[in-house]
Amino acid sequence: MEPLPKVRTERKVPRWSELRELIQLDRISLSPTRRRLHAALSIDDLRRIARRTTPRAVFDYVDGAAEEEVTADRNTQAFAELTFHPDALRSVKDPDPSVQIFDRRWAMPLGFAPTGYTRMMHHHGEAAVARVAERAGIPYALSTVGTTVVEDVRAAAPEVDLWFQLYVTADTALNERLLRRAARAGCSTLVLTCDTAVSGYRRRDDRNGLTIPPSLRPSTIADMALHPYWWVNKLTTEQIRFASLADRHGKLDFNQIASTVFDPSISVDSLDWVREHWSGRLLVKGILSVEGAREVVAHGADGVVLSNHGGRQLDRTPAPLSVLPAVREALGPQVPILLDSGVRNGQDVLAARALGADAALVGRSYLYGLMAGGQDGVLRAYEILAAEYQRALQLLGVRRTDDLDRRHVSQPLWLRDA
Ligand code: FNR
Repeated sequence: MEPLPKVRTERKVPRWSELRELIQLDRISLSPTRRRLHAALSIDDLRRIARRTTPRAVFDYVDGAAEEEVTADRNTQAFAELTFHPDALRSVKDPDPSVQIFDRRWAMPLGFAPTGYTRMMHHHGEAAVARVAERAGIPYALSTVGTTVVEDVRAAAPEVDLWFQLYVTADTALNERLLRRAARAGCSTLVLTCDTAVSGYRRRDDRNGLTIPPSLRPSTIADMALHPYWWVNKLTTEQIRFASLADRHGKLDFNQIASTVFDPSISVDSLDWVREHWSGRLLVKGILSVEGAREVVAHGADGVVLSNHGGRQLDRTPAPLSVLPAVREALGPQVPILLDSGVRNGQDVLAARALGADAALVGRSYLYGLMAGGQDGVLRAYEILAAEYQRALQLLGVRRTDDLDRRHVSQPLWLRDA
């Protein structure tokens, strides 16, 4: 075979304007936290940063789950096993991820779930989470065992759609007081959590000797050297306390709090009591079956949150996603259904919505952001989830959240638990 002619390369002197196009020097932020957050491209990246920046006992308190952590793994696996079915040749210019839920327009079908002890994760705490929710245009539920009182959260974020999560305690006067304060602070929605008759057993916390608030022991002193920023902030800001309960019960430790807020005698009567005393919207959180969903709606709940508490209570429960289609079918199209546990990606939010949920809630996803970088970290978590959601919507060929449909997502049969 004849050899090919030699390639002749003509050269020229490079021009500055061409070089400038190639060199993209990002504006370098002086704040190491901002730089770290900017480099985080997923919730998992935020989790990795959080692991480095937060004392182990605190990180594990958030990251860990009950017993063998089977349910926690199942939650994320249930999302990973889904298949998306895109529509071809649909215009997805100017996508609209927003959605009308209850009487509000949400920026996307996502809310921040209630999580206790938030100022332990980062001193910015609940106020920061509420501010991000306000900026984003999504709701935030403050926990009964929050570390900031509801009045202060409202003051920090006057426009946020603030919800209050209630643990019905054995102390009726305390329950009444919590409801009154939530109503006065303008909480639109009460979330009654029903999966905590007793506290779940989280082995990691026992192994780490976690105390809430964290106490100074030889191992904690060693930990200070590794996480000085967290410790300086903890020691130089207001003491962490169970803000909503503290004024009534003084200084309580974790075990005393657990025995106050988790009441093994909680029953449908407790739901009836709450319904009588709360005139606003009422959601029951911790439902995992068709029967459970039907029962609480029959007792006056305005909607349900399908949840296994992120795998932190009873281990080996179903992933909420695996009962979602059956619960939607049983409750019909009108009753609001929210879902949490295992949502780590905007695609997960989309899957939950397509399979019948009005919206998804996230717990750990924003807490990883909070631990990684306080308020900026929570905002980063939201930005990541929102960008993933919008991209998935467009690649699926869907322009608006309202146009998402069951046919866009399929679930393997073995992932149906109801
Ligand atoms: C929670 N969750 C929770 N739920 C609740 O009703 N009241 C609470 O005080 C708390 N506290 C709490 C603390 C921490 C550290 C976590 C991680 C979770 C459960 C929470 O509302 C939600 O159901 C789960 O977080 C959802 O699972 P993911 O998103 O964390 O996987």
